[in-house]
Amino acid sequence: MKIGVFDSGFGGLTVLRALMDRIPEASYLYLGDTARLPYGAKSRETVARYAASSAKFLVGEGAEFLVIACNTASALALDAIRDAASVPVLGVVETGANAADVSSATRDVMVIATAATVESHAYAAACRARGLRVIEKACPLLVPLVEEGWIEHPVTAEVLRIYLTELTEQARQAELNADTLVLGCTHYPLLRGQIERAVPETLWVIDSAVATAAQVDRRLAGSRGTNTAEPPQFFATDSVAKFRTLGSRFLGHAIESVELVDLGN
Ligand code: DGL
Repeated sequence: MKIGVFDSGFGGLTVLRALMDRIPEASYLYLGDTARLPYGAKSRETVARYAASSAKFLVGEGAEFLVIACNTASALALDAIRDAASVPVLGVVETGANAADVSSATRDVMVIATAATVESHAYAAACRARGLRVIEKACPLLVPLVEEGWIEHPVTAEVLRIYLTELTEQARQAELNADTLVLGCTHYPLLRGQIERAVPETLWVIDSAVATAAQVDRRLAGSRGTNTAEPPQFFATDSVAKFRTLGSRFLGHAIESVELVDLGN
């Protein structure tokens, strides 16, 4: 089974890592649409166009199942991706909301995500459908900081402190007793250590990577084969050297080769 995993950049590597741990016998194709990132600051139409062309590319390379490891594309463009791809497609917003549902005892949750994801209110709808109260906050500076590799960096720590203080105030005003913080962007788990240090210990910080991998595992049960997998193949639409260096760090495995692809603009 060949699984295509797609994000605008490095963030989806957090989902790829969880998939490789959970389903090691599958083969993986990963596309980072780094030339057109960030998606989170763009309109629905643009994100849909970028995401549909990325999905088509992965299917053309042989992907038999697509994981949209990008909350922005999942929130704004899942239908467009399904229309463009001839294979089953799984997004990460529903799996993130499922993880929040399992985690929250107070039934109040907070979500941080890109501006486009927050404006779509896809998380609010998915959380409310599960009986959760929710507030969402856009954190637009975090994706560029991650793409720059500024993980343990004082600027990132300060930006996070400001966002999380504002989020706490927003929750207080809404009279929410939140016990769960959803990382509603696949770039944010790369900042998980920093985020956990900045919030009270009683707040569960969750991301959709592990929940997504578990759901893919269930969906593919019986059809994923038992062959020894080939190493993952990586594609990027911008600097392959940067992708190799930073990507290896984020994936936790060396990325030997990355192919540069041109998906237009
Ligand atoms: N990693 C993507 C997400 O989960 C967003 C990154 C971007 O803004 O391009 O939303």
